[in-house]
Amino acid sequence: MKKISTIVASAALIASMSYAKEVKIGVVLPLTGPIAAFGQTSKGGLDIAYAQNHTLKNGDTVKLIVLDDRGDKVEAATATKRLIDKNHVTAILGEVASSNSMAMAPIAEKAKTPMITHASTNPRVTKGKKFVTRACFIDPFQGAIQANYAYDHGYKTAIIVTDAKQDYSVGVSKAFKKAYTKRGGKIVGRVIINSGDKDFNAQVSTIKAKNPSIVAFTGYYPEGALMVRQARAMGVKAPFIGGDGVGFPELIKIGGKAAEGFMYSDHFNEAAATSPEAKAYVKAFHAKYNKPADSMGALAADGYNMILAAMNKCANPADKICVNKNLRATKNFHGVTGIINIDKNGDAVKSGVVNVVKNGKFAYLTTVNP
Ligand code: PHE
Repeated sequence: MKKISTIVASAALIASMSYAKEVKIGVVLPLTGPIAAFGQTSKGGLDIAYAQNHTLKNGDTVKLIVLDDRGDKVEAATATKRLIDKNHVTAILGEVASSNSMAMAPIAEKAKTPMITHASTNPRVTKGKKFVTRACFIDPFQGAIQANYAYDHGYKTAIIVTDAKQDYSVGVSKAFKKAYTKRGGKIVGRVIINSGDKDFNAQVSTIKAKNPSIVAFTGYYPEGALMVRQARAMGVKAPFIGGDGVGFPELIKIGGKAAEGFMYSDHFNEAAATSPEAKAYVKAFHAKYNKPADSMGALAADGYNMILAAMNKCANPADKICVNKNLRATKNFHGVTGIINIDKNGDAVKSGVVNVVKNGKFAYLTTVNP
């Protein structure tokens, strides 16, 4: 009897040593709801990155557990808890909207579970957190890109449109104002909108009355598309400039001709992508989806690959503390969206681009380095 149990025990030991195990990565995205395009495009890029690589150096297999939070911060928090407590994930990728990532971050922090947001740009997402990292630049950087681009192209007076419901928009507005006035530009007014608004008559009337040379629109695409449409209908001629939250096909679909000339800072444009990583990704993206590679998917791919790189530096890739340490120590990471260095706050230092809607498409204008 004793003999048998010894044999069983050693067989189990050998099995645990020599057989690859599964390492889980949890993903929280707005796959449905008002900002579903954020989640769907993230998933599109993630699927490509996963297909390209889901085996770790030691032979372990990566398993993704993807949860939909419907774009809601309470659901984002619940999903994060579930991934940690029930699914025992080693790391979490997500969310997109800064407000939602800010609901997740304290939970990941408390559970000492590394979280990487591929797309949330508000500085407060990582602030004071040791377990939260990001694959994207932050809003002071993109706000300055917009402000400097606008000012240097002759737009010397601006009105700022802020979505009071989004931490992202509040942050970009602040950053735009700071950089624009520093450059010499003048802010001639500010209007407030709220996610979900459909009628911008009052705000557009103010814009018309203030007559700025440019409109700094810091919200997301659903409101951006409707607002630019209503602005053109009411005779506002000033161009719109925004951030990463507007560059989605819906802007053109809903905005129509009114969206022409809408400029925005973004993370990636395949037209400017020359690195081997970007080329391989773009090729796979075209083959799978038969359309231009969007920036959100590219960010999701980078976030995922950063987690894998961190796991590969650990003797046990499921060791959350080790994975987190390596994530935060990421340097010179060659991603799809460029070369990524993580600074002491957990934020990515990297270049950005300016795009514009031209002939119903997103066209590349320029690249800005940090
Ligand atoms: N930066 C946005 C935020 O923090 C999210 C976003 C990223 C949206 C990239 C679109 C593209 O809320």
